[in-house]
Amino acid sequence: MTLPVSLTGIARRRYTTKSFDATRKIAPELMDELRNLLRLAPSSVNSQPWHFVIASSEAGKAKVAAGTHGPYAYNGPKVLKSSHVVVLCARTDLTAEHLQAVLNQEDADGRFATPEAKAGQANGRGGYVKQHQEIGDTAVWAQKQVYLALGELLLGAGALGIDACPMEGFDVAAVNEALGLKQRGLTAVVLVALGYHADDDFNAKLPKSRLSADTVISDI
Ligand SMILES: Cc1cc2nc3c(=O)[nH]c(=O)nc-3n(C[C@H](O)[C@H](O)[C@H](O)COP(=O)(O)O)c2cc1C
Repeated sequence: MTLPVSLTGIARRRYTTKSFDATRKIAPELMDELRNLLRLAPSSVNSQPWHFVIASSEAGKAKVAAGTHGPYAYNGPKVLKSSHVVVLCARTDLTAEHLQAVLNQEDADGRFATPEAKAGQANGRGGYVKQHQEIGDTAVWAQKQVYLALGELLLGAGALGIDACPMEGFDVAAVNEALGLKQRGLTAVVLVALGYHADDDFNAKLPKSRLSADTVISDI
């Protein structure tokens, strides 16, 4: 059969860009596609426990680069030379206020035919939230959801021919401080520099390397 789109092609082509061409900027229309992908990413019980800070100005990128000192200095130029840097943040708690906002949005978007359906959704979601609060892993649970948005962003950027570098190598506390995230009930989780690679990007020329399909996939 003819595939509607070659996901394999996109997944093979996309790669972690180590050096960006600072002169090349992402067109606003393409950035809008990526913004939409982030907002539309799925999350457990539609909890959407995230916020995405997108830095495109030199001042904004410099704030993010505050987290790239010491052992993380190798990531600094990626932040500063990229077109845009996305700081994927997670909520540190799932507050009653946030859960109510999600429920109200679902209501406004027309997902409930009856008040009972709305109450059922609130209860169902609340059950999972309570479970995680009791286990004490709410923050970790929220961060797992953020990684779903990361996956979508990386594949989406690849599909649009935009180069990307995901980064966990940064000082979380420094970025939280520079962006005032803690006061907003947020923490930075992972950064993604977006743009177009420079000619000196050694990684552009290296072959992709993954464990074999037999190693990572079992058919039963
Ligand atoms: C969550 C995550 C964090 C990463 N952190 C960094 C980083 O801090 N700096 C960096 O240069 N690459 C980073 N990488 C890139 C990985 O090394 C890269 O994705 C992996 O080697 C696979 O290569 P590919 O992305 O080119 O296919 C990160 C990737 C992921 C998914």
